[in-house]
Amino acid sequence: MSLLEIPEFEPQPENGDKHLPKHIGIIMDGNGRWAKARGLPRAEGHRRGVEALRRTLKYASELGVQFMTIYAFSSENWKRPQDEISDLMGLLRRFIRKDLAELHSKNVRIKIIGSQENLPSDIITLLHEARTLTSSNTGTTLVVAFNYGSRDEITRACRQLAKDVKEGMLDPDAISENTLTNFLDTHDIPDPDLIIRTSGEMRLSNFLMWQAAYSEFYFDDVLWPDYDKENLERAVHYYMRRERRYGGLGATA
Ligand code: IPE
Ligand code: IPE
Ligand code: MG
Repeated sequence: MSLLEIPEFEPQPENGDKHLPKHIGIIMDGNGRWAKARGLPRAEGHRRGVEALRRTLKYASELGVQFMTIYAFSSENWKRPQDEISDLMGLLRRFIRKDLAELHSKNVRIKIIGSQENLPSDIITLLHEARTLTSSNTGTTLVVAFNYGSRDEITRACRQLAKDVKEGMLDPDAISENTLTNFLDTHDIPDPDLIIRTSGEMRLSNFLMWQAAYSEFYFDDVLWPDYDKENLERAVHYYMRRERRYGGLGATA
């Protein structure tokens, strides 16, 4: 049964707050703890995490979610041991090589956010291939946050703004919130409506800080490799019950 077939959660067009999230951001956390609890290497947790990603993307698409951003590798994850970093790079390589054709056939559009700095050149090429092959697709957009951190993203945006000012292309007095928004990696992606983090941690860890200004947050204790349809449905149900006020008074005032 799809979410929209559950009567009590049916979207109510007269109340704009109750519709499905257009954009869900996911901080996929807990792979290491999942593996440790089973006496397995952390790499196995990450491998099973990719499977959780495949099914979650499928469920999100079936629900009609238009954008799903996944936090796959943060700008701080370079602090991990070299062999874990290699495992994570290897998994991304395999994911793109193995899944790209199928994602493309399912009309999924892939976008990448994050810095290219320090990434192996074959990864940069693969990410580019994934983006260009799927750029005209009209189904769910999978945004892969890879080597991504909000502070890094905002810093890069400021650097570019400063260059444009220096070259006389931009008047500092004309810089608005929109100007900065347009310099971010996410310039062509709407802000996330709902941010989900698994594994019980309640922090943003440098994920979409600017973009999450008015996002709703859902923290789930489940470890990411165990994430399943019910978890996503619970988070979406939670979202549909929120009243988003954006600083105003809302409908119940
Ligand atoms: C999330 O799982 C995956 C990445 C950060 C790439 P972790 O590897 O952070 O798992 P825990 O938090 O150690 O359990
Ligand atoms: C956030 O998880 C990054 C990703 C999920 C890719 P971490 O496990 O790296 O975050 P912290 O270190 O617990 O804050
Ligand atoms: Mg973690």
